[in-house]
Amino acid sequence: MFCICASISIIYFGGSAEQVFYDEKCYQPDPFIPTKNIELDERLNGHLSSPQFQSLLATRLGGAIQIPTISFDSMRGGPTKSDSVDIELHKPFEAFHRYLESSYPLIHERLEKTVINKYSLLFRWGELRMDPKPIMLMAHMDVVPVDEATADKWTHPPFSAHFDGERVWGRGSVDTKLSLISIVEAVEALLESNFTPNRTIFLAFGPDEEISGYNGAQMITKFLQSKYEIGKGGLEMILDEGPTLALLNDEIVANNESNGVKSFAMVGISEKGYMDLNITVTMNNGGHSSLPPPHTTIGIISEIITTIENCPPKADLYANNPLLGSLMCLSAHSNLLSARQKFWLEHFERFKPFILTELRSYPILDAFVKTTQAADIIHGGIKVNAIPTFAYALFNMRIALHESVESVSKRITALITPIAKKHNLELTNQVNIHPHEDYNGSIHLSFDGLEPSPITSTETFAYNRLSAVIRRVFGHDTIVTPFMMTANTDTRWSWEIGESIFRFNAFIKDEGSAKVHTVDENCSISAAVSFVKFYHELIRGFNE
Ligand SMILES: *[C@@H]1O[C@H](CO)[C@@H](O)[C@H](O)[C@H]1NC(C)=O
Ligand SMILES: *[C@@H]1O[C@H](CO)[C@@H](O)[C@H](O)[C@H]1NC(C)=O
Ligand SMILES: *[C@@H]1O[C@H](CO)[C@@H](O)[C@H](O)[C@H]1NC(C)=O
Ligand SMILES: *[C@@H]1O[C@H](CO)[C@@H](O)[C@H](O)[C@H]1NC(C)=O
Ligand SMILES: *[C@@H]1O[C@H](CO)[C@@H](O)[C@H](O)[C@H]1NC(C)=O
Repeated sequence: MFCICASISIIYFGGSAEQVFYDEKCYQPDPFIPTKNIELDERLNGHLSSPQFQSLLATRLGGAIQIPTISFDSMRGGPTKSDSVDIELHKPFEAFHRYLESSYPLIHERLEKTVINKYSLLFRWGELRMDPKPIMLMAHMDVVPVDEATADKWTHPPFSAHFDGERVWGRGSVDTKLSLISIVEAVEALLESNFTPNRTIFLAFGPDEEISGYNGAQMITKFLQSKYEIGKGGLEMILDEGPTLALLNDEIVANNESNGVKSFAMVGISEKGYMDLNITVTMNNGGHSSLPPPHTTIGIISEIITTIENCPPKADLYANNPLLGSLMCLSAHSNLLSARQKFWLEHFERFKPFILTELRSYPILDAFVKTTQAADIIHGGIKVNAIPTFAYALFNMRIALHESVESVSKRITALITPIAKKHNLELTNQVNIHPHEDYNGSIHLSFDGLEPSPITSTETFAYNRLSAVIRRVFGHDTIVTPFMMTANTDTRWSWEIGESIFRFNAFIKDEGSAKVHTVDENCSISAAVSFVKFYHELIRGFNE
């Protein structure tokens, strides 16, 4: 197959200016032991650990799940006052606000609540202080729709919030009514104990994460910037949804001088970028298919797709890639890696090509070192005996840390340029409105992208304290490891205000919790309890 990939592979972004190096030993701080407000331990080990609290939590989480706060694509435009359809779609969000109000009275009594852009909620706990810097806990109240085609495949109806004594079932039971409810449960419990934080704490709940957060998280950030003058790095820590703890079975655990290492808490410190690419081929030779050109728009769009697929983006691994941090933690604290792999890792600059080759056998890990691309939609033609005047294809890309929106769009443009030349088509970034006489047609590219996120440093008070809190709640057999996300969260809007941005769900991943956005989303109530305890201790941890 003719391929020009080699000639354009030089168009790469290069390393990030700021190099972060991960600790080869994957140092773990001691579990956090509070020295202040010791009386709170009693509540943690008493009420929050009791069967009564479990069933209370199942009921409260269930109540949240039962309110169908669905984000539909049609709601991307944001809330409008006059549109009755829009108002109807947003009714569940108002119901959700009222539900929080009635279930968590102390939060509503003692925290300052601001409703932003009609449906986002921001709570401020404590007077506004900039020293120490505030922290912000995030979650989103919206969920993805239930696919009609699978609605009857649910073991329990998606908005029933059925509790079987062990698990709560339903859309949002994980993503992310679980973290939202865990946050407010923890805060309410601390308020009941008359705890007052010395550091300002923000709770931020957006209504539209599933449709990219334009009307929620984006507006919350703007509000924090304008109302509280929170600038770059103004928040000490931001925590939002992310990876979980994963159990590693005992055989592959090396370092077991105590009880054996059991779980890896994967803290997301970065997110890949994102891009939707729309390629449209237009030709003015539409007409009867008895006199066709050698290539119709459909033929050309197909050529473009196969060219892009045959020239996949190159993998690369820079010292700041969080995957390297994850691998170092696995290397230091498990037997998962072979002696040879560990050796490569120790000298990763030298053995980078070997590591990259090895990673190809692990698609999940491989996605951390390369931009992925998928042709997801193709459209063209209306009639079997008519030449299609236009055809388009949509690609979805997830941009690796060593690339950028610009480098990806340049690479794609470079791949398509020769095809455009070959067919005498103009390559444009704009829609051609008035084609001139000798116009043969065009290939139009539209790129809609989000840069890869900044990488949060692991050498900060915030990372250290977060790790210590995780080890307090899940035990010293837990290894906190830097990790990366291939999906995006509402924190995409927080880069300008957060110093340390983390994405983490504090529960142990099991089969049920692996399933979000699909049928039978469910979470075990014990996972939910640990999540509440985690936020409870995290707030204490950042108060000392
Ligand atoms: C907050 O700081 C004050 C004075 O520094 C101290 O007396 C109080 O105990 C602190 N509160 C908490 C909850 O740590
Ligand atoms: C880990 O623990 C198991 C069982 O407790 C023991 O048999 C094994 O030798 C230990 N491994 C190491 C490396 O200490
Ligand atoms: C892609 O581009 C075509 C033509 O410009 C347009 O009709 C189509 O709606 C676009 N699709 C998306 C998802 O942007
Ligand atoms: C259209 O195609 C013809 C050859 O088929 C070529 O000579 C001409 O330059 C093309 N026009 C444009 C605007 O590219
Ligand atoms: C929770 O959902 C998962 C995924 O569908 C399923 O495998 C599991 O059986 C469910 N949990 C229980 C207790 O049935």
